[in-house]
Amino acid sequence: MQTNIEIHSLTNVDIKDLSALYNLSYQNYYVSINLTEEQFQKKLIMEDIDLEFSVGATIDGKLIGFLLYGIRMYGDKKTAYVGGTGVCPEKRGNKITQQMLDFSFPKLKNEGVDEIFLEVNTKNDFAINAYEACGFEKTRVLNSYKGVPVLVVNPLHEIVAFDDLSLITGENFWDIKPTWKNEIQSIKNIIDNCQINGIYEDRILVAYKIINKNNTRIYQFGVHHDYRNRYLASILFSDLKNKEIKMINVDDREVSTNDFIQSLGLELYDKQYEMKKIL
Ligand SMILES: CC(C)(COP(=O)(O)OP(=O)(O)OC[C@H]1O[C@@H](n2cnc3c(N)ncnc32)[C@H](O)[C@@H]1OP(=O)(O)O)[C@@H](O)C(=O)NCCC(=O)NCCS
Repeated sequence: MQTNIEIHSLTNVDIKDLSALYNLSYQNYYVSINLTEEQFQKKLIMEDIDLEFSVGATIDGKLIGFLLYGIRMYGDKKTAYVGGTGVCPEKRGNKITQQMLDFSFPKLKNEGVDEIFLEVNTKNDFAINAYEACGFEKTRVLNSYKGVPVLVVNPLHEIVAFDDLSLITGENFWDIKPTWKNEIQSIKNIIDNCQINGIYEDRILVAYKIINKNNTRIYQFGVHHDYRNRYLASILFSDLKNKEIKMINVDDREVSTNDFIQSLGLELYDKQYEMKKIL
């Protein structure tokens, strides 16, 4: 156990140091992660990361650990989201993650936060053990897909851009709530980077998708409950023919969505657990 370690809020952190430690921590991760400082800043904005509630660990003046927290209303509950956890490789195995988590809980509780969510690679036993030791429990399995869509339908409908996000209601389109990163609020936070389009029938939005136009990552797509099994999802993706696309955090229980994504020819390349702690 380290004795000269200081656990503190990240309010005054130098973003350059934090972004460098983030990349160092995720250097040999299951899926390679290496963000430029600009991409890192965008991630903080998208996930509503609040540095005041985020935690750092410092030894002899050097930042060696971090725990990033986003805070927002998620459904009807004030919720925190762990946007990243890392300890520099030479300081691992000292329970620094648990110290940072334990430090954060009273402050979050005091802020009125009821629940904390996070996502972790299903193979990352070190992290899963650390989270479970602090009271997190696995809630669902999330699939990550990538590939170039193979499309066999002839688009009979026009795909049109729209910007009224209030048309996308959970009631009409979703079977299961999207994760934090794919939530409408995350999309609103980086709206200039997003392309939103869909299919209308009789002036009703019957299918939609939201993608990041810089990296063709799909944040959300859906077909209205009353308009399913009419190839609308296939038509919806016809404008992405020959483009490499990525979709992460697809709930494993959404059988028809997973089947559809696989029928597009995308490959399942990774799995994560969503974990939750009630404060
Ligand atoms: C996951 C991570 C944050 C845990 O940090 P930590 O504070 O060192 O965690 P702990 O000290 O609680 O140790 C966790 C496990 O790592 C093991 N470990 C020990 N020494 C280690 C070392 N040198 N390197 C890696 N892991 C080590 C411990 O044995 C422990 O396993 P156990 O609970 O079964 O005994 C850290 O490994 C890390 O930064 N990993 C890369 C980024 C990452 O995976 N983040 C989580 C994404 S959700």
